[in-house]
Amino acid sequence: IGREIVYLDTVDSTNEEIKRRADRSREGLVVISEEQSVGKGRLGRNWTSRKGAGIYMSILLKPDIYPQDAPKITQVAAAAVVKGLKESGVDAKIKWPNDIILKEKKVAGILTEMTGELMRVEYITLGIGINVNNGIEDFPEEIANKASSLKLEEKKEFERKKIASAVLNNFEKLYSDFLERGSISVSIEICKANSILLGKEVRVISRKSEMLRKAVDINEDGELVVEDGDGNRESVFSGEVSIRGI
Ligand code: BTN
Repeated sequence: IGREIVYLDTVDSTNEEIKRRADRSREGLVVISEEQSVGKGRLGRNWTSRKGAGIYMSILLKPDIYPQDAPKITQVAAAAVVKGLKESGVDAKIKWPNDIILKEKKVAGILTEMTGELMRVEYITLGIGINVNNGIEDFPEEIANKASSLKLEEKKEFERKKIASAVLNNFEKLYSDFLERGSISVSIEICKANSILLGKEVRVISRKSEMLRKAVDINEDGELVVEDGDGNRESVFSGEVSIRGI
């Protein structure tokens, strides 16, 4: 990971830049940009990407896995971000599947995109966005109570380079571990130990319905396991999970 790093001053989205380079690049290519003009979040949202404020980076992965295993990569990345932040003195938590939370506000997110066919993963674009030195002006009113930056929460500036390299180093370790074992168990342990959902009552929102359940586990596939009042368990594969206030 990061044997080849492309630093850009500006780009539409580092995820899109990875896709443009994917065919002629090797696994592990990292694209980092100072700003993004069309930073993308999950579910078609946009991602605030002002110049020099945050970390906007994407990694090209070419693992030999099935498409249904792609969400595991998000859990490996979440574990790497949280570990990297801890090494930088920031006590961040994970809101499954892909939100990194500091003091009840989202400070980082992961956007995993898969390219390939029904039965075959061609490559995975793993995008990581971390709000580092953003100020309140970067968070419009409608998200100000939900999103924040390391600087706003910790009341000091951070060195983006240090955080980016800590995250990449942790990702490299956890990703190699996944490829060697064929299991994300090490990452899952980190995700569980730092989860803000486990043990809590959560609202699981899918296209069809909305239900209240207790979050009890994250399984080996990286799915959230929830329990109803009768103790029946089921796993939630994607969709939106929310808890009060966050
Ligand atoms: C989310 O939480 O909704 C995911 C946010 C992901 C943002 C990062 S920034 C680098 C990469 N390029 C993008 O356009 N998005 C991801």
